Amino acid sequence: MNKRLDTRYPVLPAILERWSPRSFADRAPEAHKLRSMFEAARLAPSAHNTQPTRFLLGRKDGGGAYRRLFDCLDPHNREWAHCVPVLVLASVMRRRFSQVKADFVPYPHCMHDLGLAVMSLILQGQHLGLHCHPMAAFDPEKAQRDFAIPTLFAPGIMIAVGYLGDPGALPPDLRDKETGPRTRQPLEEIVFEEAWGQSSPLFAGEG
Ligand SMILES: Cc1cc2nc3c(=O)[nH]c(=O)nc-3n(C[C@H](O)[C@H](O)[C@H](O)COP(=O)(O)O)c2cc1C
Repeated sequence: MNKRLDTRYPVLPAILERWSPRSFADRAPEAHKLRSMFEAARLAPSAHNTQPTRFLLGRKDGGGAYRRLFDCLDPHNREWAHCVPVLVLASVMRRRFSQVKADFVPYPHCMHDLGLAVMSLILQGQHLGLHCHPMAAFDPEKAQRDFAIPTLFAPGIMIAVGYLGDPGALPPDLRDKETGPRTRQPLEEIVFEEAWGQSSPLFAGEG
């Protein structure tokens, strides 16, 4: 199954190979690979170096956290996520501590910074042969309650982690999505130069 998007310009292998599967193999990711993924996330940039992201790990072959994370997922994610060996809940600090003000202040870029950390985690995993599937469709209030997450933090995204599985094991509608093509907007429509809406000549006339 080839899920690669067409590219006109070279990108890092992990970026090219990454996609969000729904079929996962019944094989636990090695601990050393998970360690490297969290290490990569730790190195991500953040506003004021706040480092606002916290991860809560649930391993199917571990304690009860996996089941409790799974129970927070929306039904349409549960439909396929039951075969995922590892679930990670990424939460983010809603406000940051300002030394200048000696108090917590608004942190409008917190979700941006969570996204940077999560993408680092995903790409490191991909580099090591693991696929990730981020999911926003879960109940954040339930996660906050069930894991006693302090109110300073907001549950942001759940991430499925594992090795690619057999799409044939999915229900038919999901199997079609799994094997179908992926799409992206063309560069001309997303990169402007000099003026908003004006395609950059960087990409003009390129085949
Ligand atoms: C913030 C965010 C939330 C998402 N939530 C879900 C989700 O709840 N369920 C799901 O199946 N996919 C979810 N996805 C996956 C996207 O649908 C997927 O990344 C997108 O279709 C592009 O496909 P690709 O990741 O294979 O390139 C989410 C992705 C992101 C970044």
